Amino acid sequence: MATAHKNTCPPEGQPAVSAAEAPVSATGNLAGDVPSPENLLSEYTALRERYQRTTNALASAAHDLKTPLSILNGYVELLQSEKLGPLSDRQREVLRDMQSNGKRLQQFIQDFLTFSALETGGLQMHFAPGDINDCLSEVCRLWSNRFQEKALALYFLANDKLPVFPFDAPKLERIISNLLENSFKFTPQGGTVWLHAEPHMWERRAAVQPSAAERRRQNVSHPNSVKVSVSDTGPGIPAEFHLEVFDDFFRLPGTESQEGMGLGLAIARRLVQGMGGKIWVESDPAGGCKFSFLIPYKPATGAASKGKNR
Ligand SMILES: Nc1ncnc2c1ncn2[C@@H]1O[C@H](COP(=O)(O)OP(=O)(O)OP(=O)(O)O)[C@@H](O)[C@H]1O
Ligand SMILES: [Mg+2]
Repeated sequence: MATAHKNTCPPEGQPAVSAAEAPVSATGNLAGDVPSPENLLSEYTALRERYQRTTNALASAAHDLKTPLSILNGYVELLQSEKLGPLSDRQREVLRDMQSNGKRLQQFIQDFLTFSALETGGLQMHFAPGDINDCLSEVCRLWSNRFQEKALALYFLANDKLPVFPFDAPKLERIISNLLENSFKFTPQGGTVWLHAEPHMWERRAAVQPSAAERRRQNVSHPNSVKVSVSDTGPGIPAEFHLEVFDDFFRLPGTESQEGMGLGLAIARRLVQGMGGKIWVESDPAGGCKFSFLIPYKPATGAASKGKNR
């Protein structure tokens, strides 16, 4: 069978694109020209500013949606309480649907606001000494009903080897919640999810490796961080996507039909980095994946400002 080919080659002696049609960059360069470092820098700055303005505009639109939405959710709750009159079974069902969709929308808005605050450097970390076990069991408690409803087992055992150390508890809960939400969403019914935390000795790679004496002096054999992991028996994540899953708005091919915007892990990454830690994923080709992150016992000075970069 003959196939039609579009001829993309220009006739001999003519440029592929005329100068008038050639795309021109923000700084006036023809796309074919080699841009100077100064042009590249001012182009980057202009793009960065435009990106921040767009993020801010979207964030303020999202913020404006928050108040009317919580008023609507409040009215749904009022109707559900039957203080305004008894409800039929059908009406209760409709209100349940309205409530769960209202909550979903609230979560989307909250995610987007966190994302833009992190992106524009507007989110501050508040470190206070605390017991991380309390934090982890509180998140498990919040998720336990939903796991039960989907017949998923959720295991967490408090670890008494973990010391009290300074961390940002609400942000840590947010990170774990985002990881548990993914395991909940992607693990099929009947599966298992484990939440685990343990002391960890984190040896950061330095440009110059310390000598043995220096290492002894720094007491590096002692744990200096906590390692928190969420593992599941879901489909896992192919190795080629292990870095990309932490990008903004990234979703694995084939998972687009699931709810979500592809922001949960990007937010988790920024929050972990904001506490001076790091996050990664491991996955077995046979299925299941394990997300782990490290949080140092002593937050590095200026840790929060590093949250924006990988
Ligand atoms: N536990 C997991 N098992 C399998 N795939 C996962 C798991 N966690 C994340 N993924 C993949 O990584 C993608 C990115 O996850 P992320 O949490 O950032 O976004 P999301 O869950 O799709 O949406 P959002 O978190 O914004 O609601 C997911 O869409 C999914 O394809
Ligand atoms: Mg998610």
